[in-house]
Amino acid sequence: MSKVIGIGFLGCGNVGSGVWRLLNDFAGEMEHRTGLRFDIRKVLVRNPDKARCIDFAQGVLTTQVEDVLGDPEIDIVLEFLGGEKPACDYLMEALRRGKTVVTANKVAFALHWHELQKTAQEHGAGLYYEAAVCGAIPIIHTLEESLQANRISYIYGIVNGTTNYILTRMSREGAEYADVLADAQKLGLAEPDPSSDVEGLDAAYKLSILASLAFHGRVPFENVHVEGITSVKAEDIRCGQELGYTLKLLAIAKREGLMVETRVHPTFIRNSHPLANVNDAYNAVFLRGHACGEMMFMGRGAGDLPTASAIVSDLVRAASAQKHCYPTFDNTLHPQVALENNTDWQTAFYVRMLAVDKPGVLSHVTQTFTRYEVSIAAMQQKDAAPDGRVTLVFITHRASEKAMMQALRALDTNFACVESVLRVES
Ligand code: HSE
Repeated sequence: MSKVIGIGFLGCGNVGSGVWRLLNDFAGEMEHRTGLRFDIRKVLVRNPDKARCIDFAQGVLTTQVEDVLGDPEIDIVLEFLGGEKPACDYLMEALRRGKTVVTANKVAFALHWHELQKTAQEHGAGLYYEAAVCGAIPIIHTLEESLQANRISYIYGIVNGTTNYILTRMSREGAEYADVLADAQKLGLAEPDPSSDVEGLDAAYKLSILASLAFHGRVPFENVHVEGITSVKAEDIRCGQELGYTLKLLAIAKREGLMVETRVHPTFIRNSHPLANVNDAYNAVFLRGHACGEMMFMGRGAGDLPTASAIVSDLVRAASAQKHCYPTFDNTLHPQVALENNTDWQTAFYVRMLAVDKPGVLSHVTQTFTRYEVSIAAMQQKDAAPDGRVTLVFITHRASEKAMMQALRALDTNFACVESVLRVES
């Protein structure tokens, strides 16, 4: 006999509808495999009269959150509202009432993980959030369970599909950011308000979650350095391509001892790097563990069914669990010592500048770099612009972020004006 689990939805947009479809289309096969049958008892929506392609049974839709949270037959609450408020309050209340939560809400986790987990543990409720990072890619479970035996030293992630789509098209077409964004919005591939994606916040929420799990210590969202793609210029992508690099919005987390750096910014990587070939709206996570070595996980990071794939897997895991598990944030070697936030990381740089074409200018630039211990790895001089100035493109060796910024500020603008600075990881 199958076990029937009562579930309730908070919200039923794109992802909620995907979950409903997957649960319905796949119900027989899933019941056969897992011995579980899911009964969708209540679905919280804003407008029950809105036309929907889903055929909900009479009385399932409700506008009252209490109908979901207060139903004693609902064991598991699935949350698809997204954002901090009111979703977080609802999640907390569900946990307080001992209901297990399955969610795709990265904002709730990045900002309120501690309270959510504490409440879940106090009330013996489960907390499942695979879909919060990289949609269908099972990276949360992998970090929590499958890579237990590793000390992870770094993660490089392409964790935002919208920006990856925009940068891919800019790279292929030589097009400017604003034109590709407008087209992506027209095609429904970017949100009408794309700010969280294009300004890097979405990636930063996800990175804070990934880094916390990978490094077994809380890495607060506030510690993540965030730069988006809004100032990326087609000319820089082209110059990078000429030097053998591809530009990606990378979410980077590195750990050395207790020092952790987390940053999201446009980054040049060598064309030969596996992440350079992750295109369009695909996501990928590339990491290194001391035992497993380098690994890459790639897949769809958004969309109704890819996200539903992660949600329904969590649902099965939650419903089958004898005992819910929670990640530990004790640093295994130094339980009393917190991880430290490193804001002066080392990275290589790409610098494009417009320089006066006369003797001594290049020497001024190289001497200034030398003063701040920035070593040049490659340089290109381009044809003169109509005003007689030339474009100089530098790739540096790894240098301190702070020293590099000081060096650029120290350049004499009568000789050379910095047009763009981008980081390079290899
Ligand atoms: N807006 C996100 C993206 C998907 O573009 O990848 C949800 O996290």
